[in-house]
Amino acid sequence: MCGIVGYIGKAQAFPVLIKGLHRLEYRGYDSAGVALINDRGSLNIYKAKGKVEELELAVEEQDITGSVGIAHTRWATHGEPSTRNAHPHCSRSERLALVHNGIIENYESLRKELILKGYGFRSDTDTEVLVQLIDDVLTSTGTDLFAAVRTALQRVTGAYAIAVIDKQNPKQIVAARKGSPLVVGISNDALYLASDATPIAEYTSDIIYLDNEQVALLEEGQQPIVSTLKGEQVTYTIRHTDIAVGQLEKNGFEHYMLKEIFEQPDTLQQAMQGCMSAAGDIQMPDWDRCKQRFLNADRILLTACGTSWHAALIAKYAIEQFAHIPCEVEYASEFRYRQPVIKDRDVMIAISQSGETADTLAAIELAKQNGAFIYSICNVQGSSIPRLSDACCYTHIGPEIGVASTKAFTAQVLVLNMLALAIGKENGHLSLKQYTSLTNEMRRLPQYITTILLQNERIAKAARTLTFAADALYLGRGFLYPIALEGALKLKEISYIHAEGYPAAEMKHGPIALVSHDLPVVVVAPKDSLYDKMVSNIREITARHGRVIAVVTEGDTQVRDISELTMTVPPTADCWYPILTIIPLQLLAYHVAVAKDCNVDQPRNLAKSVTVE
Ligand code: M6R
Repeated sequence: MCGIVGYIGKAQAFPVLIKGLHRLEYRGYDSAGVALINDRGSLNIYKAKGKVEELELAVEEQDITGSVGIAHTRWATHGEPSTRNAHPHCSRSERLALVHNGIIENYESLRKELILKGYGFRSDTDTEVLVQLIDDVLTSTGTDLFAAVRTALQRVTGAYAIAVIDKQNPKQIVAARKGSPLVVGISNDALYLASDATPIAEYTSDIIYLDNEQVALLEEGQQPIVSTLKGEQVTYTIRHTDIAVGQLEKNGFEHYMLKEIFEQPDTLQQAMQGCMSAAGDIQMPDWDRCKQRFLNADRILLTACGTSWHAALIAKYAIEQFAHIPCEVEYASEFRYRQPVIKDRDVMIAISQSGETADTLAAIELAKQNGAFIYSICNVQGSSIPRLSDACCYTHIGPEIGVASTKAFTAQVLVLNMLALAIGKENGHLSLKQYTSLTNEMRRLPQYITTILLQNERIAKAARTLTFAADALYLGRGFLYPIALEGALKLKEISYIHAEGYPAAEMKHGPIALVSHDLPVVVVAPKDSLYDKMVSNIREITARHGRVIAVVTEGDTQVRDISELTMTVPPTADCWYPILTIIPLQLLAYHVAVAKDCNVDQPRNLAKSVTVE
């Protein structure tokens, strides 16, 4: 959370920084700020509460010249969203400006120590101690900025990605990371810094991914220098990002979320392609490295957060059914602070769109320390989770910018099911006949999604009837219980309607008490192997006058006749229904949020990439 951008080069920094902040706004949008050193050596800092466009308004009529600068878009942790707490923060000497993503855990003790030395604090943030600490090292030792940052950071516990500029050294930016991501971009005439590669992609594809506890010196006209916190120089690898600028635009859609929902026929195809051999058979990435670990696994631990956790839950159903290996699904945030029993024949599958989720990273570290093999499913190339894993399967769906995850989820479910089929085929639990039938059906999914998307207009109209609901229930069974959870999460995170997902048969153990004529109950009820059971559960709702909205298989009449609204999906196998049935629920949540005039792409209090615990 929080986005950082930096620029040093021959052009004006401000346009690059502002465009970069817009690209990173999905990481946080509570406040934004920029610091620039102009040609006369003055350090100018501008900040605004709210989104980046507020900052643009705030700098009208201001001096925004300068070819070196840093900028920040904030997701508040310490200190309310306000101009005072917005970054960049300035040092007492007013020579340094600093931006930070992460949490400084020992900031209270550092702050007390600095106050005793006469430092005053102007914000409620943990970040401000960093800039004062670096200032203190600089002024007390007379060392250079690169060394001062390293010295100061050795005293810090917590997570950080930082960028610092110094008006006494106006041709440098010093950056460092631990826990929070940071990349450096290199072009012919400039160096760039950002929380991920998206703000840099339009200027260069040459990227250095900084590792934990590395510090980088960016100097105009020079190659970057990277060192450890102790000052040992590090040899880095320049990697190439494959992000195309067109992928970062809305391309005529009103919101990124809608664009990403509509991309799913293509993204599913891309994700499938990434797990196929040239002959068209399933071939999981890094398979040679991990096949034996999967075949010999006593148990598979699946860990993730949020939507990715729902994908993990579906994978449990698939792996246990097709490969007969026991699975446990763990919230990464719980797993990391339990004392879980982890054995060296365990395989952990970690799932994350961003590859930067702090809790998932910590869960992986714990499992790895205890000898488990780590296989990750990720979207963002070069992110921290794949780098920490023993093997990785990328989903290849391009950047997902809407805060509500859509295309990442369907791709995750697809590749996890493919993994389950691959293991099942290999260990003999799945017959060749079953495997062939399921993979043939899998190839039809992109076409099926195209037909589901044709219902967009109808779903948009129907969604208006839900805008006044205070609560909603989502029900599913088997492979579709996680879809009830995911459908409910989509609705609550973007429309702010309270929604709960339940296994349908659990209703009678408590939640059915909530059912009344004004409670929308969204049922995921296609013709799978639990259809008849599900119909009975739905009848229990209608008998109590609940308003049923149903996702059903094309041609269904039984559920349609007792529902207020039905959305249809083509018939498929049980394990593929999650991918089809979530599409109408994504559209439903989207249109309810639009009808309620909510900010769909940037819902309140949320950020796309949760890099703090
Ligand atoms: O990047 P990750 O997949 O690790 O992110 C996990 C969750 O933060 C994420 O899925 C979140 O729940 C989404 N906002 C849901 O739409």
